[in-house]
Formats: sequence, structure tokens, C-alpha cells
Amino acid sequence: MDRYIVKGGTPLEGEVEISGAKNAALALLAAAIMTDEDVTIENLPNVRDINVLLQVMGEIGAKINRVNDHKVIINGSTITSYTVDNESIRKIRASYYLLGALLGKYKHAEVALPGGCDIGSRPIDLHIKGFETLGANVSIERGMVSASAEELIGKSIYMDVVSVGATINIMLAAALSGGRCVIENAAKEPHVVDVANMLNSMGASIRGAGTDVIRIRGVEKLHGTVYSVIPDQIEAGTFMMVAAVTGGDITVKNVIPKHLEAITSKLYEIGCSVEEYDDAVRIIGGPRLHSTKITTLPYPGFPTDMQPQIAVTLALAEGTSMVTETIFENRFKYVDELVRMGADIKVEGKTAFITGVEKFSSADVVAPDLRAGAALVMAALAADGYSEITDIKYIKRGYEDFDGKLRGLGAIIREVSDDREAMKFKLKAIG
Ligand code: EPZ
Repeated sequence: MDRYIVKGGTPLEGEVEISGAKNAALALLAAAIMTDEDVTIENLPNVRDINVLLQVMGEIGAKINRVNDHKVIINGSTITSYTVDNESIRKIRASYYLLGALLGKYKHAEVALPGGCDIGSRPIDLHIKGFETLGANVSIERGMVSASAEELIGKSIYMDVVSVGATINIMLAAALSGGRCVIENAAKEPHVVDVANMLNSMGASIRGAGTDVIRIRGVEKLHGTVYSVIPDQIEAGTFMMVAAVTGGDITVKNVIPKHLEAITSKLYEIGCSVEEYDDAVRIIGGPRLHSTKITTLPYPGFPTDMQPQIAVTLALAEGTSMVTETIFENRFKYVDELVRMGADIKVEGKTAFITGVEKFSSADVVAPDLRAGAALVMAALAADGYSEITDIKYIKRGYEDFDGKLRGLGAIIREVSDDREAMKFKLKAIG
């Protein structure tokens, strides 16, 4: 079982290049099959979920030319099957984007029910409501979601809950529909805008992405494009928090500062110094940070995907903080692991009450999901001594070369497969 060994206690310093946004890239890959011409996607993050989705797209017949780790040329003209199901695809959440893309282009799709991090029930009722409103028949049988339509006609759709996935999926299904589709109470995340921008560069007609009303006028067909994925605001935010939690000085490069505003303003509020540049942000952690209140909200609010990371940071800040999770119902599973490292956190309902401590003690912990796994690595970097983080497969789903980028900032971290390797690393680190 792969795990990270971390020797903590060192302030991390330097510059780190941020990769393309995983949650934008997954949707862009699905959108790419909606034309029969070549679509080139650049600045692709080299993470496990991307590789799983590309493999499955190849299995249904799409031509996949992986030019390199960060660039792919996709051609959907050779797709022969509209049924997407395999062991791996059931593990990722973004498989559902193939529903919208295949339904939009072929008026038929059958995709395994999505998996993804276990942070809540994660229903897809809003995706189904959107497809049915456009005129599709949707059913769920034997763990597969099937959607088919004689034709798709644009209608107005009100999203009962702000949903990134459902907003994007309805955009995909509506792009080639007849008439006009209006999505109200739409998600405004940067990756929603990224998908709309790429679809428009392929000839779609989508207006209002980034606001809560998106208008899609369906077109006859889409053509090829060359498109670059936006930088990953959550990866950037995670490294910014690493500076805060280790008392270091880190510049995240290749970012869009505007996408980071909710994170930057909170780091400034708790005592970090922040310098913003055109495509970079520098965070210098204070000697002792202080408490604050966090409530996770849809963009542009504080992102739920940064909730474990800010909780770890506040667990070392002076005073008592509150972190309220309003998006997912089960996103505090890491708290028990953090308490084993000496954190003083109590969860009551949707809120974690955090009393800052001076230091974490090193411990062996288990990553419960992608972002919590990254947060536990952050905690280990701040703790004195050696910690082990197991189940790092979750971290690899969403962070490209996470340990390599941390080593580039001075972290003493290594991926090992067994106790012997762990011991060798510890002896080497002692020097
Ligand atoms: C996307 O998940 C991201 N995943 C998540 O990132 C992210 O946390 C989430 O958006 C919110 O920003 C991908 O993009 C692959 P939602 P998604 O639909 O689309 C409820 C990570 O760490 N809901 O915006 O599944 C849902 O239960 C991952 O990178 C319905 O009720 O999130 C949740 O409470 C974790 N019915 C809320 O909406 C639906 O049909 C927001 O979910 C859909 C969602």
C-alpha cells in the first residue's frame, strides 16, 4: 500500500508551478467528443482521474493521441459505443460528464453511476432533472444511468441546489439541442466558465457562464479547437496553506489570482502576508496565525475543496475558530486523524470548533479522501518528527506530483511501499 513518509518541522520556501484544474479538465475532455474534428487540450493535469477518463473514452472508440503528460488530441468521430462502464470509471465522479456529452451528440448514453470521494451522498437528481427537461428519458438500472431522446429541445431549468456537475452536464447536453436552454441558479465556478469557453470556441452559443443564469442556444454541430485548461485553484490554495501552516514563504505560479480571492483574503485575515502578481501569488506565513470563522459556499465563496486545508491551518492558529461545511454532509472524516496529531477539534453537526494548539505531534494517519489527504500531509509537514500518511491513492487522483512539488519547496517527504523503504528513508533523512 503506497504511503508518504514525512519529516516535518521545516518551513517550506520557494516557487511551485500550479497544474491545470482537474475539475475543469475532466469536463473539457468529455466536451471534446461532441465534435467529429480534432480537439487539442493543453495544460492537462497529469493525475489519475484524467488518465481513467481518457482510457474509458478510448474504450468507446474515440481517438486519443496523448502527445505528452499535459497535452492530448481527441477525435470523437470514431466512437462506436454509447455505453460507458468499467471498474475504474465507477470510481470517479466525473464519469457523469460523458452522459451529457454522449446524450448531447448522439441522443443516447449509458454510463455507470458515478463514484468519487466519499464526502456525502452525492446524488445526481439535478443532472437527471436537467436531461428530462430537455426531453430525454432517463432511467437507473443495475448501477447504470441510461438517457435517450428523439430530440433535445432547450427549456428553462431552475437548479434547486447550486451544482457544479449538473450545471456543466446540462450545458453539454443542451449545446447541440434545438431552441434555447436557460439554466437558473447555475454554479459560477471558474471551471464552469472554462467549459463554456471551450464549447464556444467549438462553435457553441453559451452566454452568462460565471453568473447564475446561463443561456444556451443550441447549434447544429461543433468543430474542433485548441484549448488550454485554467490553473487549478484548489491545488494553488493547498500550496498557499502549506506556507501558512509551516510558517514558510511560497509563491504559487501560473495561477489566476481572481480565482483565489476567497482563499487569499482568509489567509490575510489570519495573519499571513500576501503579494499578488499577474499570474502568481506569494504567501508568507506569520509567526503565529490567529483564528477566524469559515463557511464553505459555492463560488465565489470559500471553496468546500479547501475546507480540510484551512481547518489544519486554523488548528495551529491562536484562539478558537469555527469551520462550517454547507456543501457536503460528510466532509469532516479527517478530524479524528488530526486529533491523533494533537489537534483540538470538536465537530457538532455541520461545524468544527477548533482551538489552536502550539504544535502537532507526528503520527501515522490514513487519508479518507482527496482533499483531506492533502490536508493531513500539510499537518505532517508542520509536525516535528516522522509521520506516515497511507491511502495516498486519493491524493494522486487530484494532485500532480504532490510529493515532488513539496520536495521542490524543501519538504522532507518520500513515497514508500513498505516498512523497509520507510526505514531506509528515515535513516537517510537523519543523515
Ligand atoms: C464538483 O463535484 C467537484 N468534483 C468537487 O470536487 C467539488 O467539491 C464540488 O463540485 C463543489 O465545488 C468534480 O468536479 C469532479 P456539486 P460535484 O454537484 O459536481 C448536491 C474535489 O475534491 N447535488 O456542485 O459532485 C451535492 O450533494 C471534488 O476535487 C444534488 O443534490 O458537486 C452537494 O451537496 C470533491 N443533486 C451540492 O449539490 C445533484 O444532482 C454540490 O454538489 C448534484 C449535486
